[in-house]
Amino acid sequence: MKIEKVHFPGNIFLAPMADVTNIPFRLMCRNYGASMTYSEMISSDAIVYESAKAFERGLSFKDERPFGIQIFGNSPGIMSRAALKIEETYNPDIIDINFGCPSNLLTKDGSGSALLRSPDLIYRITKELCETVSAPVTAKIRVLEDMEKTVQIAGLIETAGACAITVHGRTQQQHYSGKAMHEYAKRIKCEVSIPVIANGDIIDEISARDTLEYTGCDGIMIGRAAMGNPFLFRRISHYLKTGELLEYNECCQRVRDLEKYLRLLQEHGLTHKVNLRSHAQWFTKGIPGGKYIRTGIADAKDIEGIIECARGMYRDAL
Ligand SMILES: Cc1cc2nc3c(=O)[nH]c(=O)nc-3n(C[C@H](O)[C@H](O)[C@H](O)COP(=O)(O)O)c2cc1C
Repeated sequence: MKIEKVHFPGNIFLAPMADVTNIPFRLMCRNYGASMTYSEMISSDAIVYESAKAFERGLSFKDERPFGIQIFGNSPGIMSRAALKIEETYNPDIIDINFGCPSNLLTKDGSGSALLRSPDLIYRITKELCETVSAPVTAKIRVLEDMEKTVQIAGLIETAGACAITVHGRTQQQHYSGKAMHEYAKRIKCEVSIPVIANGDIIDEISARDTLEYTGCDGIMIGRAAMGNPFLFRRISHYLKTGELLEYNECCQRVRDLEKYLRLLQEHGLTHKVNLRSHAQWFTKGIPGGKYIRTGIADAKDIEGIIECARGMYRDAL
């Protein structure tokens, strides 16, 4: 797949997720076959007003290319200044605009999905960014209840110069409830000529294939199902290439990946920046004995304790 001059080795993207998609996690997803990874969303106000913490979120690793940085905000001027600073500092392959986050923290300021009520502002933000930075600009949207209005917004984003659009088929009001309505991505794909990426409720090989087939989209983006489960990208890319389900031992894989993830956090000096226990819990969700491991993880004092607890359960199999 290609967005402007950026080539991707496939069409399965890791979704930007605040407090989840840090460098170690993104590297693991990429090693398992994610074609593209994004930073967590970064506040354009924080970038312009020099918040070191916000800036750090744009850090990527040399092996992590192509890589996208996502920003949010509500002002064309501040957002384009932020995008320019980001470009000069990190040289990302893509700059993505967040028009989808339903969190009150963003919407109360008129950012994220609140912008869907102001198509004109969406147009001006996208246009000014496209005219300011040399990296391709993309946008990620949620949908409105009104399909036609949603299609119009996608059209405005294209006309303003964006090179691709990701469609999460839920409204702002839905947050994460209900089912993603992929009919929006399907319709938008018919109406615009830039690449369209479908997002929402892709959880395994079959939902990945079905979403690609149903929507006709250029790519798919996976969020929550990858949390604690970066190996999902290997499974899905294997299935899309061969039509066969990959055989593997899920419990062992999850425990190994948890250990790898914790070691990478150590390597990148990030152990004090994430909630180790809650991140570790994701890796054991849904596996036999996971509840027992999670209790142990909650009591563990440090990374070694967490690893010891998880390995203890699968010592013979690992
Ligand atoms: C913990 C969490 C953090 C998220 N942070 C972001 C974000 O920073 N930017 C963004 O565009 N979407 C964010 N999202 C939304 C996801 O990118 C994605 O659109 C959504 O989860 C639907 O995809 P899924 O069903 O595959 O999870 C976040 C979602 C979750 C669960």
